[in-house]
Amino acid sequence: MNLNDKSKIYIAGHRGMVGSAIWRALEAKGYSNLIGQTSSELDLRDQEAVTSFFSEHKPDVVIDAAARVGGILANNTYPYQFLMENMQIQNNLIDSSFRTDVQKFIFLGSSCIYPKLAPQPLKEEHLLTGPLEPTNEWYAVAKITGVKACESIRKQYGRDYISLMPTNLYGPFDNFDLNTSHVLPAMIRKFHLAKEGGNVPVELWGSGTPMREFLYVEDLADAVVFALENEFHDNLYNVGTGVDLTIKELAELIQKTVGHSGEILWDSSKPDGTPRKLMDVSKMENAGWKAKVGLEEGIKKTYQWFLENQESFKEVKI
Ligand SMILES: NC(=O)c1ccc[n+]([C@@H]2O[C@H](COP(=O)([O-])OP(=O)(O)OC[C@H]3O[C@@H](n4cnc5c(N)ncnc54)[C@H](OP(=O)(O)O)[C@@H]3O)[C@@H](O)[C@H]2O)c1
Repeated sequence: MNLNDKSKIYIAGHRGMVGSAIWRALEAKGYSNLIGQTSSELDLRDQEAVTSFFSEHKPDVVIDAAARVGGILANNTYPYQFLMENMQIQNNLIDSSFRTDVQKFIFLGSSCIYPKLAPQPLKEEHLLTGPLEPTNEWYAVAKITGVKACESIRKQYGRDYISLMPTNLYGPFDNFDLNTSHVLPAMIRKFHLAKEGGNVPVELWGSGTPMREFLYVEDLADAVVFALENEFHDNLYNVGTGVDLTIKELAELIQKTVGHSGEILWDSSKPDGTPRKLMDVSKMENAGWKAKVGLEEGIKKTYQWFLENQESFKEVKI
């Protein structure tokens, strides 16, 4: 497609951690015709509302960073909402894009679409080769249908509809609420509070031995811009760094960045989760994109953002 700085780009979920990073990245590159709607302005579960939004605004490009997201507890408590709302959101966006002739669509999913026991590192071809991790299968099944919807449009109509599957993300606008946050922002907050409390010990869950991969959210935004500006020849691409580390190494890196000098206590009575989760990123690298922000640099930037913004989430109970 002929993309230029006036192309109308609709970012669904533009206030979220991922959507807002994509918005900033596009703005920084000079794209001046970005559109976004909050969930109260446009409920993406509402097919009629989405249809009329598309016929009124006629975007050239659509990026789907909207989703009902949450951890294991939320997935287990609301399986129907995780399955149905995510399918509604993405179906309405994909089908409206298809019907209004949108030529470029970028769908964002997550690495949980791959089978629980798929070989590591996870390759795109492992999709649908085995049972999913049961704790988030509702969310994963919805995301898999999104990948397949984009793939079917590519196959049948030759449009450049792409699905990007990011690994664990972190960065500005992350969730630092200790009740619901992911491991990396939770550690930043815990080490910071422990430092402020006189370098008291920090207690962390599990043994520290599982291995995980983390991608700075602005790197993902960069990958989305790359996918927007280049024609892709396939539908599904992993986005990650291709490098992992143990949770213990992560804790030590965050401890050093925050400047906490107390002890780290590991509560090995708590579950560890899957031993390893690493993406094979060679397909995206072969397409010409590679992550740029190393973990140490990304954690420094995220901690800086945390320090500048912590007032806004101080009221969150910990
Ligand atoms: N965070 C991660 O570690 C991670 C890792 C891999 C993949 N991803 C993927 O990235 C995508 C975005 O995740 P995120 O972390 O940015 O989530 P987030 O911060 O919770 O943002 C989600 C966005 O979706 C919008 N949304 C939710 N329900 C909606 C509805 N019914 N109608 C309209 N908008 C709705 C929200 O809009 P409002 O703010 O206006 O309510 C919000 O802006 C997801 O597909 C997720 O799977 C995230």
